[in-house]
Amino acid sequence: MRKENDRIMLERVESQMRNYIDELSNRDISKLFEKLPHGKRLRAKLVLKIAGMNEEAVRLAAIIEMIHAASLLHDDVIDDAMMRRGVASLNATEGSKQAVMMGDILYSKGFEELTSFNPLIASRVASAVTQLSIGEMSDVWLSKKFHSDENAYMQMVYQKTAALIEATAAAAAMLAGKEEHIYALYGRNLGVAFQIVDDILDITQSSERLGKPSMHDFEEGKTTLPYIYLYELLDEEGRARLKTLHGKKLDYEAREWIRTMMVETGAVQKAFMYAKELGDEAVALMRGVGENSLADIAAAMIERDF
Ligand code: FPP
Ligand code: MG
Repeated sequence: MRKENDRIMLERVESQMRNYIDELSNRDISKLFEKLPHGKRLRAKLVLKIAGMNEEAVRLAAIIEMIHAASLLHDDVIDDAMMRRGVASLNATEGSKQAVMMGDILYSKGFEELTSFNPLIASRVASAVTQLSIGEMSDVWLSKKFHSDENAYMQMVYQKTAALIEATAAAAAMLAGKEEHIYALYGRNLGVAFQIVDDILDITQSSERLGKPSMHDFEEGKTTLPYIYLYELLDEEGRARLKTLHGKKLDYEAREWIRTMMVETGAVQKAFMYAKELGDEAVALMRGVGENSLADIAAAMIERDF
């Protein structure tokens, strides 16, 4: 029953997004929008669960999902990603220029609509988008060479992924007159844990399961948390081998070596425990205020396998 309610609630967010795009009165843009895959709609779910099912919450959820979708369109151009959510990315099918411009439209329309909200809510979301953009820049800069700087990784992940989830939860709490800081902390923990789990799955799952090529992160130069721990746990020879593989196309042997070492050294388990602690804290925060379905979202996010 709860699943069916969630589906109906999310359907309203989908149609609100479609309405915003249709207001632009451009059929080509509406058609491009229809091509975008929907994804998990994590941010929309959070808004609706925190702020309840009402017109303002649906609008806020739609705006945040539009901004998030814009960031992924740009990210796929930046990352040269040909797949997104199991289907060809927009840059792959329509070219990078159209993907960037579609991102610009989603992003600006989202901001235009955000101005109708209480300025405190609007600025909470807007400043998170600045963080998101700085986080993406740091991700690109950190990818230029091999590094094992855990603090730099954590800061980047907070900005790139958690800041918007934190602001989503905080803004929804403000809308509902709930205690903002508890929801913000929940969102922050959930966001960091979400990205760490994403970085683990890139190594442990197959391309078919992920809906995008596996081990692409390291090929792209991204030294994510499991790689930072792996580097720490390897001997001198292993460290040197890992460094030579960084930022290159990995052959079968290299992939198998990384996968085996990730398990044998306990690096992947260590990264998972980090994410799990944050996830457990998020679950406990929500159980403490009787928000069981928000607690369940955090628990399921940690246990997901794609
Ligand atoms: C995915 O990371 C990317 C993000 C969470 C943020 C991307 C942000 C920007 C491009 C800047 C903001 C731009 C706008 C228009 C608001 P990932 O590459 O680690 O994950 P993936 O595997 O899902 O691609
Ligand atoms: Mg990417």
